[in-house]
Amino acid sequence: KHIKLLEQIARGGDAVAEQHALNPLHLKEFLCNGEIRQWAGPSQEVLSPVCRMVNGKPERISIGSFPLLSKEEALLLLDAATTAYDRGRGEWPTASVEKRIACVADFVRKMKMVRDQVVKSLMWEIGKSLTDSEKEFDRTIQYIEDTIEALKDLDRVSSRLVIEEGILGQIRRSPFGVVLCMGPFNYPLNETFTTLIPAIIMGNTVVLKPAKHGVLLLHPLLAAFRDAFPPGVVNVLYGKGREIAGSLMAAGKVDVFAFIGSYGVANAMIKGHPRPNRLRTVLGLNAKNPAIVLEDADLDNAVSEIVLGSLSFNGQRCTALKIIFVHSSIAERFNELFCKAVSGLRCGVPWDKGVRITPLPEIDKSQSMQEFVQDAQTHGAKVINEGGGEFFGTFFYPAVIYPVTSTMRLYHEEQFGPVVPIVPFDSIDLPVSYIEESNFGQQVSIFGQNPDVIASLIDPLVNQVSRVTLNSQCQRGPDTFPFTGRKDSAEGTLSVSDALRAFSIRALVAAKNDATNKEIITAILRQRKSNFLSTDYIL
Ligand code: G3H
Repeated sequence: KHIKLLEQIARGGDAVAEQHALNPLHLKEFLCNGEIRQWAGPSQEVLSPVCRMVNGKPERISIGSFPLLSKEEALLLLDAATTAYDRGRGEWPTASVEKRIACVADFVRKMKMVRDQVVKSLMWEIGKSLTDSEKEFDRTIQYIEDTIEALKDLDRVSSRLVIEEGILGQIRRSPFGVVLCMGPFNYPLNETFTTLIPAIIMGNTVVLKPAKHGVLLLHPLLAAFRDAFPPGVVNVLYGKGREIAGSLMAAGKVDVFAFIGSYGVANAMIKGHPRPNRLRTVLGLNAKNPAIVLEDADLDNAVSEIVLGSLSFNGQRCTALKIIFVHSSIAERFNELFCKAVSGLRCGVPWDKGVRITPLPEIDKSQSMQEFVQDAQTHGAKVINEGGGEFFGTFFYPAVIYPVTSTMRLYHEEQFGPVVPIVPFDSIDLPVSYIEESNFGQQVSIFGQNPDVIASLIDPLVNQVSRVTLNSQCQRGPDTFPFTGRKDSAEGTLSVSDALRAFSIRALVAAKNDATNKEIITAILRQRKSNFLSTDYIL
């Protein structure tokens, strides 16, 4: 039954309804210094996770290509951003907050017009379901609009002068300089923009390197970047990540590295910067968030939340629940309900109605998932759901693995895919010490009902991870909540308002409150001579 289903999904691209079909997009241009420039050099073919059957084998469908820019172009883009910043004298970093907000508002208006194209690209490039692709787009629009409001708030608070110990001061936030912004393939629009937009709106200039999958979807936005912002504020770098982005770091002109991805790449990039004290980092990295299901948990709720937490977008979320600790006394019942819920998840291609499990975009991902399963089996665990771990081409049917122990890779490594390891425990010390010893420290979900037990877990665990969620899956949102992690999981904190702080530094104008200074400051304020020293209020 399963092989048939897998084959059917692997044929997903054989006959696609007209409204979901994608015309291949071969990009021959890139955005540099406010111009869309032509590219005649080599390109990288883009293969969809959606396949069609060729000679009885599933084959990834070619959906376009993008320029493989060389190091020279990468450095041109960096120069464009550096010139636009112009050591802080550029039009953008010296612009008023009101002007920057107006440009971002203009961008968001233009962005809304290309929703359908971006959503379609998300489905074809990374295999995200239609519903989740639409959610990603709409959430990003909301994030940008909330960012504008948060900056207005911040600006209102900074629009007054303070007098302390006879010194007059105006304290505001100012940009750092050039930001290299790189997002992840699982949220190539949303998570890229959660660093890009705050970086821009605070007055920085940016080189944006799209994620390894999810490049074509940015194309409809190039003209909007060009038209909404002054030249050089946003420059888009296509190409092989570590190679060209690495050469940007080596040039030593990047002031902030904003990256959501793996800590291995982050470390290599940071090491490549010759002036470590100049470089600020804003990083969202790996995680292995556990769920802890206590003896008295409401099992129906725990199962439905953990299915969501472990298998939404096939488990390819940094916040996904990647290891499930279940109290031994309820493990059998939990496993039974969990496998039943997994078998009810609709599998298919991204535009299938109600689809939950879809093909995987990363090269050889099914094979790497299979290796996790085989390693666990070799060390004594079993696949406990029907058809679990079977795969065909890019489609991997979720595998539920039990009992997982510390001898297995799945216990320690982030699988980032549709494999769910379940670990039985008798003593709460096991999951707690797991978290303490882990190199990751993003979030944890606790399922239970006893306030005493839950409180006794909250107090130590908030010092190990950055968010303890009760009786539901781990997640980033609401986007106004702080999103961060400890240890290898993150550097810096993101949320709508925290991100504005992450991409700016406090700077102030100060003067002794004497007659001469009062006169100078009054003249500057009254005649609106400065954008920084200003008491103007944005409503
Ligand atoms: O990939 C990591 C994302 O930050 C997860 O966000 O919890 O909203 O899916 P989410």
